[in-house]
Amino acid sequence: MNISIIGTGYVGLVTGVCFAKLGNKVICVDINEKKIEMINKGVPPIYEEGLEQVLVENKNRIEATRDYRYAIQNTDVTFICVGTPSEDDGSIDLKFVKEAAEEIGEQLRNKDGWHLVVVKSTVLPGTTGEVVLPLLERYSGKKAGVDFGVAMNPEFLREGIAVRDFLEPDRIVIGYYDDKSREVLRKLYSSFSCPIVETSLSAAEMIKYASNAFLATKISFINEIGNRSKKIGIDTYEVASGIGMDKRIGRAFLGSGIGWGGSCFPKDLNALRYWAKEIGEKIDIINSVIEVNRKQPLRMIDLLKKHIPNLNGKTVGVLGLAFKPYTDDIRESRSIPVVRRLLEEKAIVKAYDPKAMDNFKKVFPHITYCSSAVTVLEGSEAVLIIKKWDEFRRLDYSGKIVIDGRRVLEAKKTARIYEGVCW
Ligand SMILES: NC(=O)c1ccc[n+]([C@@H]2O[C@H](COP(=O)([O-])OP(=O)(O)OC[C@H]3O[C@@H](n4cnc5c(N)ncnc54)[C@H](O)[C@@H]3O)[C@@H](O)[C@H]2O)c1
Repeated sequence: MNISIIGTGYVGLVTGVCFAKLGNKVICVDINEKKIEMINKGVPPIYEEGLEQVLVENKNRIEATRDYRYAIQNTDVTFICVGTPSEDDGSIDLKFVKEAAEEIGEQLRNKDGWHLVVVKSTVLPGTTGEVVLPLLERYSGKKAGVDFGVAMNPEFLREGIAVRDFLEPDRIVIGYYDDKSREVLRKLYSSFSCPIVETSLSAAEMIKYASNAFLATKISFINEIGNRSKKIGIDTYEVASGIGMDKRIGRAFLGSGIGWGGSCFPKDLNALRYWAKEIGEKIDIINSVIEVNRKQPLRMIDLLKKHIPNLNGKTVGVLGLAFKPYTDDIRESRSIPVVRRLLEEKAIVKAYDPKAMDNFKKVFPHITYCSSAVTVLEGSEAVLIIKKWDEFRRLDYSGKIVIDGRRVLEAKKTARIYEGVCW
């Protein structure tokens, strides 16, 4: 098939590159010229394991442009993959989705033949049918379900292993407005061996939010158990193994630590909370999950202050800045509240991350960035391990106070004092 992708961030670029790998011709559209230039040179603008190789291997089937007209005229299916960030009050900001829908609609006005528009961005229930579809109709002057199709196909990939997740998903969800759209998406995904769930547009939208909310709830739940366990000397990981073997519960997402961050869980849970309020409902469990997660990273500082009560002028090393290992993405990373609190306490912060330092510098330009993890340790009285990069396991922590947020147990062997956040 000929596919256009609107928005070439983590989801759009991975989707485009993977569809190209599966033999489709792909045109990526973005408003960011630098990203377009890089993709056309075969260089991914984001770091994702394996992405560059797939991009280079399929270069003849993928191109990037700013030109919506060119993309819509030369493809049959368009995926909207633009960002859906939070407004200041936590509600979803649909600005990019609306802009994309308007542009696509305008181009559909001058296109002969049927075209399918698929929303892949995470949007609240009702958005595809009540916001995107009317905009497409208004700007194209055409009728959804007749002149063009509409579908909603949420994405579940995880950053860091996005290519693998896209190519080997647990399930594919196809929310469809009209039968022809469902048929086209069935065909597009026909080479995938996982189950395909076919739903209404808004059920597909809700599946994405409910999945993220449930996973975040599991993490906040085990952190609540972990905080209490730590207090009386229980290793929460033993508890997690014990409960995780129950098939009704499962072991995944029971790794206690300093909480969840990233580009999705925080904004999606906030959007869900705000949306519930808008429809006159309370969603108590989500409020608690968010509150537990707000406090969790700061437990590292509490543990540190047990050993160094006054951090004023003390040098503290921070290892790992991205929201998870093997990515350069720092959006809502737990490192942000930790570094902020260290600076409030007037500590001197030295930091290192193998991939994410350039992004972190935009938020904290004035802390010291080190060229290696070893350099962070030099002169630091204490070290906080925020992310589990492999190289942090091999460091010699002799003489240091180590506060471990991610269970790098090797650090315990050499550290002068070792504190696991929930173990
Ligand atoms: N990042 C993830 O792990 C992940 C996983 C599943 C779902 N999602 C969802 O997918 C969506 C995209 O997320 P992301 O992380 O890829 O976002 P991103 O911010 O990395 O990328 C969005 C891209 O859209 C481009 N863009 C914005 N407006 C545009 C327009 N009008 N026309 C063309 N391009 C435009 C931006 O320049 C940017 O390159 C979000 O709704 C997110 O919640 C993300």
